[in-house]
Amino acid sequence: MGKVKVAIICGGRSSENEISLISASGVLQAIDRNLFDIELIGITKSGKWLHLPKESIFVVKNGVLPTISENGIEVSITSQGLIAGGKKLAVDVVFPVLHGPYGEDGTIQGLLEIIGLRYVGSGVLASAVCMDKSYAKPIFSAAGLKVAPGIVVTSNKFELPSELSVPLFVKPARSGSSKGTSKVNRITELADAVEHALSFDSKVIIEKAVEGKEIECAILETDKKLTVSAVGEISISKDFEFYDFQAKYIDNSMELIVPANLPEGVEDEIKKAALIAFSAAGCEGLARVDFFYANTGEVIINEINTMPGFTPTSVYPKLFEESGVDYKLLITKLINTAMSKSVSITR
Ligand SMILES: Nc1ncnc2c1ncn2[C@@H]1O[C@H](COP(=O)(O)OP(=O)(O)O)[C@@H](O)[C@H]1O
Ligand SMILES: [Mg+2]
Repeated sequence: MGKVKVAIICGGRSSENEISLISASGVLQAIDRNLFDIELIGITKSGKWLHLPKESIFVVKNGVLPTISENGIEVSITSQGLIAGGKKLAVDVVFPVLHGPYGEDGTIQGLLEIIGLRYVGSGVLASAVCMDKSYAKPIFSAAGLKVAPGIVVTSNKFELPSELSVPLFVKPARSGSSKGTSKVNRITELADAVEHALSFDSKVIIEKAVEGKEIECAILETDKKLTVSAVGEISISKDFEFYDFQAKYIDNSMELIVPANLPEGVEDEIKKAALIAFSAAGCEGLARVDFFYANTGEVIINEINTMPGFTPTSVYPKLFEESGVDYKLLITKLINTAMSKSVSITR
C-alpha cells in the first residue's frame, strides 16, 4: 500500500499564528515518513496560503516567536482540491495544526468539508462550540458539569450581578493562549480589563475567579473508542498571577505535574467529566479538556481545546506520553482516525 498523503496546514490568521508554526514544526520533525508523505502549507497572518518546504523549522529563538514570510508559491483552494504552482497537491488527509479563530473554530473545517478533504480533529460544529466559551459553557452545564459563574458582555455598559464579586477573570469569548485575558482583583480595574478584552473580541466573558489548581486532561479517539490520558496539573512560577501568554510560551515557566496531586477519587471524576464534555460538545479525534480543581473540592470545567498546543513538549502530547503513547505514535493515530472517517455529510 502506498503512503498516506498528509497536508499539514499551519500558521493562520489568528493571534496564535506563531504557536501554530511551532506545533507544526514538531509534527513535521516527528511524523513517520515510512507511513506518510507530507505537503506543508502555511497560512500567513494576512491570510495567504503558501506552499512551504517540508524541511521548514519554526522555533522560538532568543524569546522571539517564529514567522512565515508573506512571499512564496500561493496555494489555491478549488473544488478540484489544493493547487500550487499550477499542480494539484496530492492530499488524502489534512492535519490543520491551527489554533484559534479561522483554524480551530470550524471555519477551515467547513472549507475542507466543501472540497471533500478528510481532516484531523473535530468537525465544524464542535470546533465552533468549543472556540466560543459563551456557547461551550451552557453545553457543559446542560451535561451536568460545573462551570464558573459568569456573564457575557459586548460593551462596557453592563450590570454586574451581585454574585460576581472580585476576584474576577475577564476574557475574550473566542480567544486562546490567554491573549486578552486579565485577572481583576479590584472592581475599579474591571472597565479597563473589559476594554482590553474587547480589543480581541466583540464578545467578552466576565467570570468568577476560581481559586485552586488548573488540571488538564487529553482525549484521543481511535477506532470509534475514546482514550483518556493521565491527568496533569499546571504548576506555574509564582512570578505569574495566572497562566498567561508569557508563562505559556515565552518563559517556559510552566511545569506539568503528572499525575496531578489530587485527593483519592478526584482523578477519576475529572476523567469522567472530560469524556462527558467531549461527547456533549460533539468533539472528534482529539481534545484537551481543561479544569479547575477548586479549593472547595469542586471540579469545574474551564474549556475544551479542539486543536491544543501540539509541540512535543506541549501538554497534550506530554499527557499521552505519560500514558504510553509517544508523540510519533500519537500523530500516526490521529491521522489514521481522520482517514477512517467518511467525507460525507453523515460524519
Ligand atoms: N474563572 C477563572 N478562574 C481562575 N483562573 C482563570 C479563570 N478563567 C481563566 N483563568 C486563567 O486564565 C487562563 C486562560 O484562560 P482560558 O479560559 O483557559 O482561555 P484561553 O482560551 O486563552 O486558554 C487559564 O489558564 C487560567 O490560568
Ligand atoms: Mg486555556
